[in-house]
Amino acid sequence: MPLNFDTSPYGRRSETDYIFSRFDAGKNLLMPGPRRLGKTFVLERLEQRASQHDYHAIRLDVSSCADTQAFFKKLAEKIEDKLGNKILKQIKQRALQLGAPHQQNSQTLPQALLNVDWESYAGNLLKELAEDSRRWLILMDELPIFLLRLHERSAIDQASRVMYWLRENCLNLSIRWLFTGSIGFEPLARKGNYQGAIRDLEGFDLKPLEKNIAQIFVQDLAQNGLLPYRREITDSESCAIVDAVGWLSPYYLEAFSRHLQGVPTNAQAETQSLIEAARLSLFQSADKDCFSVWSEHIRKHYQDNTAKASKLLAALSEFPNGASSGTLLADLADPNMQDTELKRLLAILEEDGFIICDFEADTHRFRMELLRLWWQRYLPE
Ligand SMILES: Nc1ncnc2c1ncn2[C@@H]1O[C@H](COP(=O)(O)OP(=O)(O)OP(=O)(O)O)[C@@H](O)[C@H]1O
Ligand SMILES: [Mg+2]
Repeated sequence: MPLNFDTSPYGRRSETDYIFSRFDAGKNLLMPGPRRLGKTFVLERLEQRASQHDYHAIRLDVSSCADTQAFFKKLAEKIEDKLGNKILKQIKQRALQLGAPHQQNSQTLPQALLNVDWESYAGNLLKELAEDSRRWLILMDELPIFLLRLHERSAIDQASRVMYWLRENCLNLSIRWLFTGSIGFEPLARKGNYQGAIRDLEGFDLKPLEKNIAQIFVQDLAQNGLLPYRREITDSESCAIVDAVGWLSPYYLEAFSRHLQGVPTNAQAETQSLIEAARLSLFQSADKDCFSVWSEHIRKHYQDNTAKASKLLAALSEFPNGASSGTLLADLADPNMQDTELKRLLAILEEDGFIICDFEADTHRFRMELLRLWWQRYLPE
């Protein structure tokens, strides 16, 4: 039986209620958050619950857009899906207006589509939405990944143009917006000099689950028949799972719980050995790939810093309770890595959710114990 997100405490109801209340107050939001935290899940719930708050939602993921044309096209098509009327006719009309005017009569629809000015077209559709009597939301997943693609292609000016385009279309119209990102906006905006474009967005800090809610989550997974070996997880076991996972994203709680075997117990010693066995089983199974999104994230998005970040994490993975920058520098023994550069890299890794840094106390450690153990074992490059 699937989980019921409408009534369960892990269904992110208080988060979505809060977000709708900020939309009601006229705010547009930015929801950054590390990989696998549950950002897309929250967008799905917002979309599903929009009508209860008298909104109509349009949700799109722009991480795969390779250029600005693809971005505006995706936005336009998603709006059209929802507006649901006269779609092809409108595209054709628009294409004929904006495309090659001399060939109007001979142009076929596919040819016309190639000539569409998607930016103006998306802008027009947004105006149509804004004039609609209904209240509209646009939930845009992974905007900074798209911006980073533009940065990588030396098209930083285009990233800036898109952001200022969005700013105009966010602020001047009655539509409400929410953007998510698994990489930080701020470093990109700083590099591309478009901080002004995100200045008026209000931050919303999505958190992992609270401990008691995470316990209910894993117990519900068992009771709903969603785990291969268990129909029950005891209080003592759920508590130990939560401790073992450390960073309470539902994704990792579920991955861990899938490996809990044996007879349910509340006895302390038995619980500990079952948890230890579950951890081993997780690392030996195909499920261990659930951690590879983190190394992939570094490979894809860290450009020249990829090797340095991987080595730094490898060094840090030896310290369950964290390490100082001095210890890390000594371990890395890299003449190209000075204290300032190390600190800059630590800050980026913290921003992306890999680690927690205390720069005052100079102690830095993995945010998620399971990821530390995985990194230590597999040493991804
Ligand atoms: N509150 C929740 N209850 C149950 N399942 C959840 C919850 N939050 C997330 N999940 C599940 O965890 C998985 C990862 O969540 P999601 O895709 O939303 O994370 P994300 O932050 O968007 O990750 P990424 O940065 O990789 O895109 C999904 O399968 C999702 O359904
Ligand atoms: Mg996502």
